[in-house]
Amino acid sequence: MTGASTARAVSRRRLLTGGTLAAGGTLVGAAAVTADRSDEPGVRPVRAAPVADVGGAVEPFHGPRQAGVATEPQAHASFVAFTLRPGTDRAALGRMLRLLTDDAARLTQGRPALADTEPELGMLPARLTVTFGFGPGLYAAAGVDDRRPTSVAALPSFRVDRLQPRWSGGDLLLQICADDPVTVAHAQRVLVKDSRPFATVRWVQQGFRRGAGVEPGGRTQRNLFGQLDGTANPRPGGPLETAVWVADGPAWLRDSTTLVVRRISMNLETWDLLGRPERELAVGRRLDTGAPLTGTAEHDEPDFAATGPDGLVVIPDFAHLTRAHVGDDRLKILRRPYNYDGVPAADGTADSGLIFASYQSDIARQFLPIQRRLAERDLLNEWTTPIGSAVFAIPPGCPDGGWIGQQLLG
Ligand code: HEM
Repeated sequence: MTGASTARAVSRRRLLTGGTLAAGGTLVGAAAVTADRSDEPGVRPVRAAPVADVGGAVEPFHGPRQAGVATEPQAHASFVAFTLRPGTDRAALGRMLRLLTDDAARLTQGRPALADTEPELGMLPARLTVTFGFGPGLYAAAGVDDRRPTSVAALPSFRVDRLQPRWSGGDLLLQICADDPVTVAHAQRVLVKDSRPFATVRWVQQGFRRGAGVEPGGRTQRNLFGQLDGTANPRPGGPLETAVWVADGPAWLRDSTTLVVRRISMNLETWDLLGRPERELAVGRRLDTGAPLTGTAEHDEPDFAATGPDGLVVIPDFAHLTRAHVGDDRLKILRRPYNYDGVPAADGTADSGLIFASYQSDIARQFLPIQRRLAERDLLNEWTTPIGSAVFAIPPGCPDGGWIGQQLLG
């Protein structure tokens, strides 16, 4: 090899590996690698994405609160609900949760699980979070129903509901989110294996948002109707703090929250038939900017009293925005939804929708009044149908060496 070709081989190798492998196997120092292949005939310089930044990024696992709630949503999610096997009592639950906590903690930090059969798949955490949820049945199985947050109970039925058992209920939930689908798949595999002696898989819902790095951070995601979805979420700091987290009470409640998961199918066929003005009227916001129909920018306050030249209110009473709007910060909910897109039917009919996931400190006080108003009269109901429903308590987090659920069952 000549000196020049050796240098070229080394620089290409550096490009391909994209950085150095640190102890423990996580990739470091590979930000903004420039793929300069301009020395090859016919190849123009290309700027490569900072791949290893995404793959190596870590979210903390241990702490007073669980990750995956206030965490900036990752691109991929799998919601895995379990039914406890008969005989899984308080002691068995403790064993299961220790096991699950230990493997979840490892994987989120980019370390393979204990006895991981594919350790290479555990080394790129890509902001993996595993959030544990306890359904009403878990409290009953453990004999601690008196410790169940009262609002963690099956929701009342709404006239818009067409719920299917295959997407509903659950004693335990693992919400697995990461910026990489292979990371999510591996974590799901490991954790389902761990749970086998104690529980069976009840349902799995997989969803996605825009890929990591596709848009600058902090942008509102779009759902499959093309709408900006998440604009009015309570912001980190004050409003999110009071709306989502339980501030006091016994140790198993402090720093906990609750989760409502609704699988809502979206009829893209009939939505496609609408003109743009009708679509914007159904929600009360513009499709391009997400601005309320009475404003110009996404975060402008909607003016529900404003009238147009025809004397009618600009944002109609039946618009999703009007029905869902909550003025009081303490009563807001944190929506963290994911899109789903199943296999279309042979005639091309889509199987698409939203895995609607909302966090609030109290389901009865915050979620239910909104859901009641929507079920009663929300124009969006014409194109959306809830087909699954489940509720979970999200218990507090745990310190290093502890386990999720310890305050409740330990
Ligand atoms: C497929 C079903 C749904 C779709 C496509 C949808 C879409 C949207 C869109 C586009 C917005 C406006 C932008 C924003 O603030 O995010 C919005 C706002 C909102 N939605 Fe939904 N939504 C759905 C279901 C629900 C459900 C089931 C609930 C709760 C029961 C809900 C609660 C809210 C709330 C609280 C707001 C903010 C209202 C405000 O204060 O301005 N949505 N939704």
